[in-house]
Amino acid sequence: MAHILPDAGLAMLEERFEVEAGGPRPEPGWLRAHAGGAAAVIADPSVRVDGDFLDSVGSSLRVVANFGVGYDNIDVDAVRSRGLRATNTPDVLTNAAAELTVALMLAAARRVVEADAIVRADRWSASQGSALLGRELAGATVGLVGFGRIARRVAALLRGFDLRLLVYSRSMGADARGVEFRELDDLLAASDFVSLHVPLTRETRHLIGARALAVIRRGAILVNTSRGAVVDTGALIDALRSRRLAAAGLDVYEDEPDVPAELRELPNTVLLPHVGSATVTARDAMARLCAENVIAVMEGREPPAPVV
Ligand code: 8YV
Repeated sequence: MAHILPDAGLAMLEERFEVEAGGPRPEPGWLRAHAGGAAAVIADPSVRVDGDFLDSVGSSLRVVANFGVGYDNIDVDAVRSRGLRATNTPDVLTNAAAELTVALMLAAARRVVEADAIVRADRWSASQGSALLGRELAGATVGLVGFGRIARRVAALLRGFDLRLLVYSRSMGADARGVEFRELDDLLAASDFVSLHVPLTRETRHLIGARALAVIRRGAILVNTSRGAVVDTGALIDALRSRRLAAAGLDVYEDEPDVPAELRELPNTVLLPHVGSATVTARDAMARLCAENVIAVMEGREPPAPVV
């Protein structure tokens, strides 16, 4: 039972099992409506998998395989207490997500979307070029909030830009390889760019809210490719309107696929529809890993990427 799964993984499953798939853009309630009696369920971060959902599938269920690395949509205690397995797709999307993070930093800093809109609207005048002044990454201070696989890859990609890298992470390490660890408020106050890379948990929900945005350096650029709810959207809109934040590059939102009109109307936002892992390479590898996870559990083996 697959909510969403590219062909590379679907084919692996179809060789072995009877599969019902929701297609590229299934309706929000599709999985719940179709999963009854399934042995495996493939969800993605848009599908809430809680105790109620698990019970609605029934005693046939053995594994919930998430098509994605983040699994905040899954109630892991509910999975564990029912003796089920849950899996995700780490590593294979790390580079895709990190590259998109850098793309958002550059797009927000160089006002790529505003500039593109001017050309498309045939509003390019001789004076226009000098009105679109942006900022450079070189010489800037970039703060990474969270330092897991994706943030580390972002740090590696940014090394060529000649910038200063600050990192806040729960398990603070020793400064090394061009990275300086800082407490969150110190990082926010010192960074020209702040990029979010924490998983969504009870502790990180609205980590970047009114309080953090009052500490953040005036004129900073915020980039979020992690989870929308790490940021308090109302506080973000206020900070963008007041120009406390110069710009924001966002790939994720609190209530996807809804993006508040206030964000869409602001000129200083770059807004993407959750495409961090959307490359051919990453999505194919995610599909295969997701299928391998399911096959392993069905064959009584340890899955390659277990969560529970
Ligand atoms: C989604 C993601 O899984 O990996 C994650 O945590 O958020 C994404 O890769 C992907 O967009 C499929 O919905």
